[in-house]
Amino acid sequence: MKQYFVVYDVAVKDFALSFSSKIRGKVLGELPLICDEIHKNLSSVESICRSLLQKQADKSCTLLSIGGGVCSDICGLAASIYKRGIRFETLPSTLLAMADAAVGGKNGVNLDGVKNAIGSYNFPEKTHYRPEVLNTLSHKQLLSGAAEILKTFLLFSPKLYANSLSTLRSLRLLHEQAPDGSSEERQRILGELAEMARKAAGYKLKVVKRDPFDKGLRHLLNYGHSFGHAIEYKYTESKAAERLSHGEAVAVGIVMAQELSEQMGWSERGLAEKIKKDFESCGLPTDCPWTREELREAVLNDKKSENGKIDFVYVKRVGKAARKKIKI
Ligand SMILES: NC(=O)c1ccc[n+]([C@@H]2O[C@H](COP(=O)([O-])OP(=O)(O)OC[C@H]3O[C@@H](n4cnc5c(N)ncnc54)[C@H](O)[C@@H]3O)[C@@H](O)[C@H]2O)c1
Repeated sequence: MKQYFVVYDVAVKDFALSFSSKIRGKVLGELPLICDEIHKNLSSVESICRSLLQKQADKSCTLLSIGGGVCSDICGLAASIYKRGIRFETLPSTLLAMADAAVGGKNGVNLDGVKNAIGSYNFPEKTHYRPEVLNTLSHKQLLSGAAEILKTFLLFSPKLYANSLSTLRSLRLLHEQAPDGSSEERQRILGELAEMARKAAGYKLKVVKRDPFDKGLRHLLNYGHSFGHAIEYKYTESKAAERLSHGEAVAVGIVMAQELSEQMGWSERGLAEKIKKDFESCGLPTDCPWTREELREAVLNDKKSENGKIDFVYVKRVGKAARKKIKI
């Protein structure tokens, strides 16, 4: 019989314990973790390894992460080093993790304030999709994941991009009409979002498997992230009242990237404006509170810049991804 050790984000305790009680296999133990960027550290990895030892888990044990990207990043690292590697599965509890983090490749923890300073490459053997876990996410958290989904479909699939816009507009409408509603319509939309996320994760996996060590092709997935990370970084520096989530910053970053590529004549005319309107129709922000000059240093500080150049990602038209090394 398959043996599991379940690590879950305390934010989804009820869901995780209920899932764990029905799992096919023997559950050796369950460990709750506080999952935020502060606890995304080696102590959390150590506590998992220590609990596995206490339960005498051997190489046949599978570590199951139930939580968002923080939980799967911590568990992915623990699974790759405990007894030099045990099996690893994920059940993502945020839309962003469903679309991106939980299918892995890279995982890691923060050290001395440096994000993902320590990590490993580790792919989960299986990712479980359970739309009902999204029920407790705030609208802002759903939108953050939605931006990563739109990013992936802009790069690779005009059809899925159009379909996801329609689902996200329904989500927005529902949120405006009944912010705390848990109607059938909401369940339907969450189901569609989880399915879109699963498809986006499929595209990510295709890219990552062709470039597992991040040598080039994988940079496509950073679409919108050079400006997006810079926007997030500027927020940590400033006392901005309304902070953007990661996905919201990426949405603004995508619009900025498209505006730049259109100015350079690299992409279809009018595309930047279309994407801006599309995003706004879903409730995503598109305006950058800083000028390009203000962002320049933050873009250059991004770990992905090399010798003053960045691998700039844009789309020529929806579904046609491209990248160029540019000086910023
Ligand atoms: N390994 C990768 O390929 C990869 C890719 C993208 C992001 N990441 C990492 O993922 C992390 C971000 O992931 P995230 O956006 O999932 O954030 P997260 O894991 O930090 O979760 C966000 C917040 O939501 C809470 N939460 C989680 N699920 C919930 C639910 N169902 N209901 C209510 N609250 C819930 C969490 O406790 C947390 O407070 C970052 O650390 C990032 O570096 C990794």
